[in-house]
Amino acid sequence: MKRDFLTGEELRAFELERLLDRAAALKAGRDPARDGGRLGARSLAGRSVALIFEYPSTRTRISFDVGVDELGGHPVVLRGDEMQLSRGESVSDTANVLSRMVDAVVIRSSSQDRIVELAATATVPVVNALTPLHHPCQAIADLLTMKERFGDLAGLRLAYVGDGNNVARSLAVLGELAGVEVVVAAPADYQLEETHGVKLTGDPRAAADGADVLYTDVWVSMGDEGEPGAAERRRRDLAPFRLDADLLAAAKDTAIVMHDLPAHPGDEITAEVLYGDQSAVWDQAENRLHAQKALLELLLAS
Ligand code: CP
Ligand code: NVA
Repeated sequence: MKRDFLTGEELRAFELERLLDRAAALKAGRDPARDGGRLGARSLAGRSVALIFEYPSTRTRISFDVGVDELGGHPVVLRGDEMQLSRGESVSDTANVLSRMVDAVVIRSSSQDRIVELAATATVPVVNALTPLHHPCQAIADLLTMKERFGDLAGLRLAYVGDGNNVARSLAVLGELAGVEVVVAAPADYQLEETHGVKLTGDPRAAADGADVLYTDVWVSMGDEGEPGAAERRRRDLAPFRLDADLLAAAKDTAIVMHDLPAHPGDEITAEVLYGDQSAVWDQAENRLHAQKALLELLLAS
């Protein structure tokens, strides 16, 4: 029975724990000085993985491409506009063809419905590499980063401030699975729905109070760019939710700052905080590679 990873809800708590442990081991084993080579170097031998990007990407695309290669597999990277899908070939026909040739499909799409439809027909695992609704690959890398910094995840408080978007939703889904308390502070029109035990507030200070992690993301996500006047309106409405030094002071002294990137210093986060001592953003970016390698092993090699 093939397994997909479309929202993160597919994982059980013990599987997430194992995935994070495996990711940490793969990370340690990647350092030749520590392990004399690459742990997992053959776990995807003889396997091919299609990596389809309908939207731009830096971290996701590179980390999956390099990750598949490091596990001994073959990545096939495609832009959406290079596929016949963009000329009207159906999603189900595409899924059938992909399933005859590759062992997994990783896809970044403008539509959650499209990847659900793809997964319904495909006989190989389908991984969500970002849709406007979910970004579960980001959340597993973020949990790995938090585990590295704090040891135990259970009981940590993560305050997400800004737009209640795909990244916030995935943190809610996977945070709950890991026992993390997730609080989202957003203006009413930008707030996440009640989901997965997340706490919702309109007050960024109340969210930041006692937080172990302060997290933010862009104010204009990829699907939002088409709305007329979106950037100006969002900048105005979300300004009180900027992650700045004052907000950080409300969190624990030991708090870390997280952002999935790309960042827009001066908008959702100040440069001082983004590049400050408490920032964990570069570890987050690197951990995309390790967490996704562990995910591919879970879906393909077990
Ligand atoms: N965080 C993230 O998914 O980055 P990219 O859009 O560069 O892949
Ligand atoms: N919320 C952002 C995340 C980018 C990685 C977007 O969807 O554009």
